[in-house]
Amino acid sequence: MDWGMKNRLSQIIKPDGNCFFLPIDHGYFQGPTTSLERPGETIEPLLEYSDALFVTRGVLRSAIPANNSKPIILRVSGGATVVGSDLANEVLTTSIEEIIRLNATAVGVSVFIGSEYENETLQNLSTLVNECEDYGIPVMAVTAVGKELEKRTARFLGLCCRVCAEHGARVVKTYWCEKDFDKVVNGCPVPVVMAGGPKCETETEVLEFVHHGMQCGAIGINLGRNIWQSPNPVPMARSLQAIIHEKASVKEAKDIFDEMKNRAE
Ligand code: 5RP
Repeated sequence: MDWGMKNRLSQIIKPDGNCFFLPIDHGYFQGPTTSLERPGETIEPLLEYSDALFVTRGVLRSAIPANNSKPIILRVSGGATVVGSDLANEVLTTSIEEIIRLNATAVGVSVFIGSEYENETLQNLSTLVNECEDYGIPVMAVTAVGKELEKRTARFLGLCCRVCAEHGARVVKTYWCEKDFDKVVNGCPVPVVMAGGPKCETETEVLEFVHHGMQCGAIGINLGRNIWQSPNPVPMARSLQAIIHEKASVKEAKDIFDEMKNRAE
């Protein structure tokens, strides 16, 4: 691996081998998502706990100050929305020149395996890998399920992760699942990062699934709604950071959460 690729990967994956990505890319297919109406304000108190931001070029240019020092993972697929006919019908939205111009540390692309657009979205991944590898820019594949959240079984997610890695993704983002998540991770030759999905009922539920996923071998999270839609986003981010980078147990993380929350009240 060349120095540039190693350097960029080391910016988003910390020396302990783990990572905490903060995604704020949801608007690219669902518009002004709750708590993300003003993304710059939403992330301001959360940035210190995260390792990288996952964002589109539109929000990057309009809401993130150019003196930002967090690595940027640029979301470079899109072209379909929640009010359109098929969320899976995505294209690559951002050229390699634009990726370089924006000084992205890495890029992210969704792949809709099992959908009508499986072939097209795998081609998007392959094209992006071909272009980004030339410049040492890591590609994160997002194993997307569109509106079909029930697809999140270990068998399906394991297949998706492996296929994305085989197509050249340097990192794969997938959903956590309760049963056999270790098989999802173990079947994937590149690091696996967990997405959050819709908001959980309680903070403890989030801490539990992230902790379990890490025990199964995931290297971290790309968690959005369960942080910035929480009534206590800062304690949520800090307690997740403790699980990811400080090997905190669920109880220790919850204690950190409670302590921060109580202090703020
Ligand atoms: C949207 C994404 C998001 O980055 C991803 O789903 C993580 O966010 P959340 O934790 O809110 O699900 O890729 O397409």
